[in-house]
Amino acid sequence: MEHADVIVIGGGAAGLFCALTAGQRGRRVVVIEHANKVGKKILMSGGGRCNFTNTGTSPDNYLSANPHFCKSALARYTPWHFIEMVERHGIAYHEKELGQLFCDESSKLIVRMLLDECEAAGVRIEIQCSVDRVVASDDGGFAVHTTRGSFAVPSVVVASGGLSIPSMGASGFGYELARQFGHTVLPTRAGLVPLTLSGKHQERLADLSGVALPVTATANGQSFSNFMLVTHRGVSGPSILQISSYWQPGDELGIDLLPDQDALDALLRWQRERPSAELKTVLGDAIPKRFAQRLCEVYLPQVQPGKPMKQYTPAQLRAIADVLQAWPLVASGTEGYRTAEVTLGGVDTDEVSSSTMQSRRVPGLYFVGEVLDVTGWLGGYNFQWAWASGYAAGNAV
Ligand code: FDA
Repeated sequence: MEHADVIVIGGGAAGLFCALTAGQRGRRVVVIEHANKVGKKILMSGGGRCNFTNTGTSPDNYLSANPHFCKSALARYTPWHFIEMVERHGIAYHEKELGQLFCDESSKLIVRMLLDECEAAGVRIEIQCSVDRVVASDDGGFAVHTTRGSFAVPSVVVASGGLSIPSMGASGFGYELARQFGHTVLPTRAGLVPLTLSGKHQERLADLSGVALPVTATANGQSFSNFMLVTHRGVSGPSILQISSYWQPGDELGIDLLPDQDALDALLRWQRERPSAELKTVLGDAIPKRFAQRLCEVYLPQVQPGKPMKQYTPAQLRAIADVLQAWPLVASGTEGYRTAEVTLGGVDTDEVSSSTMQSRRVPGLYFVGEVLDVTGWLGGYNFQWAWASGYAAGNAV
C-alpha cells in the first residue's frame, strides 16, 4: 500500500485543477485517469480552441437544484484568476462573443498549461489506470485500489465528470461512488444537446438541413437568442443547445423567428411597402428564403399561392404574426449523451460543502466539476465551474 495525501479520480478540467492547487500547497497528489490521456474534453472543446471561461460568469448562468451552491466557489476563483494563469503561460486568446474567451491557437495549450502546473507542483498522474474499489479505512481515511496498486489516503476527490460523450471516457463511476458512500444522486439527463424531431415534424424540415437563422428559443420561462440550425435529425445551434437544458419531452418550446422586431409591425410595414409581393417573398428577405417558403407552405394556412400582401386581413396578419413570434417546435427528444456537451443533475449539492466541496456525510471525500449537480450554460461557464470547484477542493484537501 502506497501512501499519498490526495487521490483525484479523473484527469479532466476539474481534477487537474484541483490536483495542481493541492500540489502547490505541498500535498502529495496522485491523479487516476482511466483514458489514454488527460483532458480529452478540453482538447475537443470550443471546436479545438477551448472556450476556457466567460468574463460575465455569474451564478445565474448555472442550473442546479440548489442555485446558491455555486456562489461561494465562483466568487473565490473568478474568470480573471484563470485569465491570469493563461497569460502567465503566454497563451494568446480572444473574445468571441458575450464574454466567451477562446485560445487563438489550440485547446492543446490549455492542457499543456495544466500539465506544466501539475508537474511544477509535483503532482503524479497515472493514465490508463482504473479504480477498482474505494474503501473507507478504520482510521478515517480511504484505501483506493487501482489497476496500478493500492493507495492509502486521507482525501479522495471525485472528478470523474458526467455521462456526456462516452467515447471520450465519460462514465457513471462518480455517481456510483457517491451512492456507495450514502450520497443522493439527482436524476441525470443530457444538456446542451441538439433536439430531435420525429414523424411529420421531422419530414417538414429534413430537406432544410444546414439552414441557419437567428431566433429566440423559449421554454419553461427561459429564453436564449442566438442561431438555430436545422439538422438531418432535428434542430441544433447555440440557441437550441442552450434551451435544451431547460426543456424536457412534452414541454412547450416556442421559437421567435423575428427576434429583433415585432412580427405584426413588420407584416403591416411589408403590406404598406410591398402590397403586390407575396408573403414568402417579403419574409424571404428577413429569414432564409427556403425556411420562409416552408413556413408559408406548411405552417401558415392563411397563405395561398399567388396571394399578394395587400389581400391579407388584419386578423390574418395577426394570426401569421403569432406563428412567426412563437413558432411551435414539436421536438420528440434530444440526441442524448452521445452528442451532449454536459450532464444535468448529479451528486446532490445539499450534501456537499459549498466552500470546500467536501462531503457532509463522509469527511475526506470531495466532489468537483460536472459530477455535481451544477451545470453551466453554453459559453465557457462549465470550464469556469470546473476550475472554481477544483480550486475550492484543492485548497481544502
Ligand atoms: P471531465 O469530463 O472533463 O473529466 C472527467 C475525467 O474523468 C475524464 O478525463 C474521464 O476520462 C475521467 N474518468 C471518468 N471515469 C473515470 C474512472 N472511473 N476512473 C478514472 N477516470 C475516470 N465547456 C466549456 O466551458 N467550454 C467549452 O468550450 C466546452 N466545449 C465542450 C465541447 C464538447 C464536445 C463537450 C463534450 C463538452 C464541452 N464543454 C465545454 C463542457 C466541459 O468539457 C465539461 O463541463 C468539463 O470538461 C467538466 O469537467 P470535469 O473535470 O468535471 O469532467
